[in-house]
Amino acid sequence: MIKFHPTAKFDKDASVIFLNKEQAKSKTLSGIVNSKIREQILALIKNEQFQADEGEVFPLALGKQKILFVGMGDRSKLTPTSLRKLARQAVLSSYLKKVKDVEWVTDDQKDETIIGVIEGILIGGYSWDKYRSGEQKVAKTHHIIAAYKPAYDDTLTVCKGVSLTRDLINDNADVVTSTYLEKVVRGLVKDHKNVSLEILNEKEMKAVGLGLHLAVNQGSNKEPKLIIVRYQGANAKKEYDVALVGKGMTYDTGGLNIKTTGHMEAMRMDMSGAAAVIGTLHNALALKLKKNVLFVMPIAENAIDANSYKPGDVIRGYDGKTVEIGNTDAEGRLVLADAFSYVIKNYKPKTLVDIATLTGAVIVALGHDYSGLVSCKDELANQLLRAAEETDDRVWRLPSYPEIKDAVKSLIADIRNTGWPKGAGGTITAAEFLRQFTPGTPWAHLDIAGTAFNDGKGRLYYGHGATGAGVRLMTRYLINS
Ligand code: BES
Ligand code: MN
Ligand code: ZN
Repeated sequence: MIKFHPTAKFDKDASVIFLNKEQAKSKTLSGIVNSKIREQILALIKNEQFQADEGEVFPLALGKQKILFVGMGDRSKLTPTSLRKLARQAVLSSYLKKVKDVEWVTDDQKDETIIGVIEGILIGGYSWDKYRSGEQKVAKTHHIIAAYKPAYDDTLTVCKGVSLTRDLINDNADVVTSTYLEKVVRGLVKDHKNVSLEILNEKEMKAVGLGLHLAVNQGSNKEPKLIIVRYQGANAKKEYDVALVGKGMTYDTGGLNIKTTGHMEAMRMDMSGAAAVIGTLHNALALKLKKNVLFVMPIAENAIDANSYKPGDVIRGYDGKTVEIGNTDAEGRLVLADAFSYVIKNYKPKTLVDIATLTGAVIVALGHDYSGLVSCKDELANQLLRAAEETDDRVWRLPSYPEIKDAVKSLIADIRNTGWPKGAGGTITAAEFLRQFTPGTPWAHLDIAGTAFNDGKGRLYYGHGATGAGVRLMTRYLINS
């Protein structure tokens, strides 16, 4: 829980005090601390035991009260990102492990600083502990010393959406199934009068001809679903400003083109796009965004079985085009293509943005800190880049251009789900496949294969596991556009 207070009292179990080098050098401190603590800091600085270097921490006990000094380094070099990292470092420090009430003190009262502290605590402090027995985590109340502003509540809302997304991604694939995701969505939208649902089950999908989506799910014992949330935040007219479409592969074995050891273990994260759409839906509802938005989640499982779809198959999609299956592991673009066709035909959104853990190639191109963005509409691409800049939910643009269409040509069908030559520009050829299912609709694609999930220790201010990539970005995009 987070609370805001205008002034620090230093009466909580613990206080985290951020100090920069200028403050340390000046040897006098502004009014942020009381005289008792001021004396202590000045002594630490004088004895060169603490210099407020970036990331330097000093734990101090004053009787029962714990103080954690956190160095911020040079004031001029401090960024919202470094602040989030510092807050994460503090919130996870073993010194504060058993503490319940923590006060957060900085004399910098800029909005971006306070928001950085909030996100450092809530996003940086997130960890997935559902299956870890042993020590209970202490439920903490964080008292942030700042004059309250409604914008801070919005940050709390967005962080909650991010955590929801991360929880959905981190849990087992056999827990977070299509049925489970449907329940989560129904739970979020119930009691909202300006929301309606269209959820297609397998039978309904067969009846309308979502052939690509059905093919991907053929080897699974779970039901495929196409979940469409119709949110009318602007007006009751069924005209939608944007459709957000998230890839929801609850598990990706690769299918008959099976993935090898080392490449399959994290594949419960292959529904991160759909999870990010759910987190954004949560935020849109809580922030009462004044937009008409379609939240679209094609859900399937790419499993292996005698019924699995096969390499070399030719399958007809909802829009009538036939697709040669060059590789059953290129399944994400298939479910997305059918979802695009269905949504464009039946709802005609003004814009379509998809988010998907689509290609390993985006990791080769951009690593794990930037999501890939592909769009041939500069204005839309720039809106997303701006939202990325503002939220630190990072995005880098890759090209889309006319000649790339040759890379997905097939000799036996209208298009092929793998690019040619093999291994070349995997992210932009996948995007080109998607683009061919967006006739007449301005479209942008976000590839979050590298950013949605951390294997290992973590990066930036995210720990192991799901990061919630795309939630802050899409929420801000909806707010701005
Ligand atoms: N879900 C994967 C992409 C992925 C890779 C996500 C690594 C997260 C981490 C996707 O379905 C896939 O398997 N893509 C293939 C496409 C290839 C067969 C053309 C890939 O990237 O290897
Ligand atoms: Mn795959
Ligand atoms: Zn996949």
